[in-house]
Amino acid sequence: MSLIALEGVTKSYRTGDVLTPVLFGIDLRVEQGDYVALMGPSGSGKSTLMNVLGLLDRADDGHYHLNGQDVTAQNAARHAEVRNKTIGFVFQSFNLLKRMNVLENVALPLLYAGVSRSRAKLRAQELLAQVGLAELGHRMPNQLSGGQQQRVAIARALVNRPPLLLADEPTGNLDTKTTEEVLAVIDQLNREQGLTIVVVTHEIDVARHAKRLVRLKDGKIVFDGAPSQDARETKEVGA
Ligand SMILES: Nc1ncnc2c1ncn2[C@@H]1O[C@H](COP(=O)(O)OP(=O)(O)O)[C@@H](O)[C@H]1O
Ligand SMILES: [Mg+2]
Repeated sequence: MSLIALEGVTKSYRTGDVLTPVLFGIDLRVEQGDYVALMGPSGSGKSTLMNVLGLLDRADDGHYHLNGQDVTAQNAARHAEVRNKTIGFVFQSFNLLKRMNVLENVALPLLYAGVSRSRAKLRAQELLAQVGLAELGHRMPNQLSGGQQQRVAIARALVNRPPLLLADEPTGNLDTKTTEEVLAVIDQLNREQGLTIVVVTHEIDVARHAKRLVRLKDGKIVFDGAPSQDARETKEVGA
């Protein structure tokens, strides 16, 4: 069973009378344990596709099976439930709460889910250790580097144990060194815990960490294969 199965997914945005088609018949399967980089020019539909995958937005047409369930026709409340259980999100901005320390930031989704404070803190501490920040739980977010803040955001995204991590430009605000630090954590989560990952990036160096590269152009998939088999990549390497 695929973790993600999209069939014939289309999506348009309407602004007033103008209909802008964005996704054209996307077919995409992602297996449990896969690690997919999603690339494409600005405006090609990457974020729109991520929003559909993340149940933050809805396709106009086609079918979506997530984690064995047909979620195509489910209502927003059901989508929220499935999303909370199944998906961790990471964005370009870390979105940590400034007035809470690192441990409290990571524990927060569990407190919302009704877990007791003591259990939430234990679980949050476990996640901080997994992203290499076991010692920094007491710090405030502004006392961390950008790379460390993004690792906290990853810990928070995974505190409910979702099988899927969706990351939209997670290293977009980071320099080369801290980018590598964040990617090392993502790679390790995939390798050691079998976490399924879909990451949007415009950097081929980031995409090379993935097992699979999907390229979007004008709302269609134009390449789907190993990063090393991508024509552009081959050209770059040969140049
Ligand atoms: N909420 C929206 N309303 C109207 N148009 C949108 C909306 N979101 C995205 N679009 C349009 O859809 C196209 C694809 O956008 P997006 O998925 O953000 O691309 P990418 O992430 O690849 O840069 C763009 O032309 C964008 O202007
Ligand atoms: Mg985008």
